[in-house]
Amino acid sequence: MTVFRRRGWEIPEHRATAESAFSRRGALMMGLGAGAAGAAAYYGLSDGVAPARAEAADEVLAALLPAKRNEAFKLDRALTPEKINGAYNNFYEFGTSKYVASAAQGLKTRPWTVKVDGLVNNSLELDFDDLIKKFALEERLYRHRCVEAWSMTIPWTGFQLSDLVKLADPKPEATYVRFETGVAKSDAPGMRTSWYPWPYTEGLTIAEARNELAFLAVGTYGKVMPKQHGAPIRLAVPWKYGFKSIKSISRISFVDKRPDTFWEALQSSEYGFWANVNPDVPHPRWSQAYERVLDTGAQVPTQIYNGYGEQVAGLYKDIKGEALFM
Ligand code: MTE
Repeated sequence: MTVFRRRGWEIPEHRATAESAFSRRGALMMGLGAGAAGAAAYYGLSDGVAPARAEAADEVLAALLPAKRNEAFKLDRALTPEKINGAYNNFYEFGTSKYVASAAQGLKTRPWTVKVDGLVNNSLELDFDDLIKKFALEERLYRHRCVEAWSMTIPWTGFQLSDLVKLADPKPEATYVRFETGVAKSDAPGMRTSWYPWPYTEGLTIAEARNELAFLAVGTYGKVMPKQHGAPIRLAVPWKYGFKSIKSISRISFVDKRPDTFWEALQSSEYGFWANVNPDVPHPRWSQAYERVLDTGAQVPTQIYNGYGEQVAGLYKDIKGEALFM
């Protein structure tokens, strides 16, 4: 694991969290903030990590692949090669470095149950293989913009989150959706670091969850989801910074309060609930104006909502007084 300690990334005392948990601050130093520095190490790599092997029990999903591409979701740039974005990941349960693909092979993805509960008329607890049979899988080409100012493009296979929302049939008082990762501590060396607020959790408003872009992905490049990308099922919300796209989901709860989320709990002044991509709102420690496109090395201007404004800007037009872009 490469840990970067550069004075430029350190948080001045006046911006430090009010919590007395110094260890948490330490975690942050090794965390997302270090990723931008980690970029240099990435370009120094002579080769990638071996592609992930699927679990033997992946036959049910494999038989549904490749899924038909939905041409409505196109890209304005080339697809990132599979072995590039499969070898440069954030998956803190398996370590804080970007090179967690090997460690992530320790993730056991079968049996895997997904629970859908909370304020719904139809709560569910389904084995992953039964869950995927309930939805028509499709492929979509999405951009992914990490808060650390790198980006990739990727073909996800999965289904629209709104289809699952429809199936769960939320009660009118359900205003948020909370997601929880199901990675077992026994499989994940990174979870031994007790200062992180495990398990990894994330949240969306119910309106965001119903947006056509919010996607539950179960595969990439026409194949079963590699473990390092969050097998067997992860979220893809491409208009938000990448940390919102929670991996290896085992529980989806409909709630009436804004859920606590992993990064917000760790450092709310840097990683908020909304986290919509905006080039004009810098992270407290770096600019968000440009992004480094994986594989090409090109620095390209970042777009508002990561280029998905047409689909999502309306979600926020009546929300005032919220930090929508951090
Ligand atoms: N989900 C879990 N469970 N654990 C994580 O550490 N990292 C997040 C997000 N989802 C993370 C997670 C961050 S910071 C990013 S940028 C993306 O996953 C990275 O997704 P990728 O590795 O597939 O590119």
